[in-house]
Amino acid sequence: MTGSDQPGSDRAGIDQAGSDQARNDKDRVVSPLADADDRLIEGALRPRRLAEFVGQGRVREQLSVVLEGALRRGRAPDHMLLSGPPGLGKTTIAMIIAAELGVPLRLTSGPAIERAGDLASVLSTLSEGEVMFIDEIHRVARPAEEMLYLAMEDFRVDVVVGKGPGATAIPLDIASFTLVGATTRAGLLPAPLRDRFGFTAHLDFYEPDELGVIVRRSAGLLGATLRDDGAEEIAGRSRGTPRIANRLLRRVRDFAEVRADGVITRRVARDALELYEVDENGLDRLDRAVLSALVSRFGGGPVGLSTLAVAVGEEPETVEVVAEPFLVRAGLIARTPRGRVATAAAWPQLGLPLPPGGPPGPGGAGLGGPGTLFD
Ligand SMILES: Nc1ncnc2c1ncn2[C@@H]1O[C@H](COP(=O)(O)OP(=O)(O)OP(=O)(O)O)[C@@H](O)[C@H]1O
Ligand SMILES: [Mg+2]
Repeated sequence: MTGSDQPGSDRAGIDQAGSDQARNDKDRVVSPLADADDRLIEGALRPRRLAEFVGQGRVREQLSVVLEGALRRGRAPDHMLLSGPPGLGKTTIAMIIAAELGVPLRLTSGPAIERAGDLASVLSTLSEGEVMFIDEIHRVARPAEEMLYLAMEDFRVDVVVGKGPGATAIPLDIASFTLVGATTRAGLLPAPLRDRFGFTAHLDFYEPDELGVIVRRSAGLLGATLRDDGAEEIAGRSRGTPRIANRLLRRVRDFAEVRADGVITRRVARDALELYEVDENGLDRLDRAVLSALVSRFGGGPVGLSTLAVAVGEEPETVEVVAEPFLVRAGLIARTPRGRVATAAAWPQLGLPLPPGGPPGPGGAGLGGPGTLFD
């Protein structure tokens, strides 16, 4: 991927994949993407201050230093870039930044900024010190991007008046502000944009005990009775992602109210998540179907993506975009130049004994390292 050479055209391709992913993924209880229900409830569940934010210890500490420094100097802090997979807390942190600084937050998103004029109208109405949050900043249109560079660096925009050879650029001063950009695709940001951020934070997947704290906090806010062992059970199945943890909590709470006495114990959480077909490791039906086809029908691979997709009755893209990333991250499958292979962990995951001679993939008969070609 040559993100900095032709970011515009690359991004168009990725956007397409992004929207397809949304379509394929939206009905899954373990999707990291926000659905309509999530959006409704997330406002209420978001931590408001840095001290309430669970996990991401290093990012939290770095951020607190940056914010404290800015507050002491009485100036807007550097522009900040937040990157990481969906549902880990980028929007939450952007809101926290504004709250900690005690300034308003202006929300917009890359896809909403199609023309330079869209951006100019936001920038020119910012007040001194305001935080401007651009979600999915990798999707800002090219012409607006140029304007953003100037705004970030000199707090100035050039408003072009007229057309053709007679057009003139009128410089316009804008308030000094802090840009907070969020992206799930940091690699797609053109270098000049990336370089203009003074602080970059990459969010990582959460540990189960951190997710346990998050669901207990959410349960408190939702008025649900959650026992510690119930929290542990939900946390372990949440794929390292707070958004998924909060969603599973809501499903389990419904189950607890309808099928039990309303108290979420480990037993109740297990029964509920079994009903929703989310297993101990957070794999759902599609994940297991893919894994099981790979292991049982193809002896652990290597097998090509399209063959694997036919075996589970899905589009290759669904397998690739929806199921594979988590299976790879969980260390259950690997992408190799010759196709997909199951790792040694796949057999026990499915409750099967390892084949004689070991798995065919990395650590087995040796097909080279995982994921070099297709990552
Ligand atoms: N560290 C955290 N502590 C508590 N709750 C969290 C934390 N991180 C995220 N959440 C919760 O997870 C949900 C999703 O977080 P958020 O919307 O900030 O993710 P995001 O990274 O912006 O996702 P996307 O890439 O889809 O925009 C929110 O409801 C938020 O309350
Ligand atoms: Mg977000």
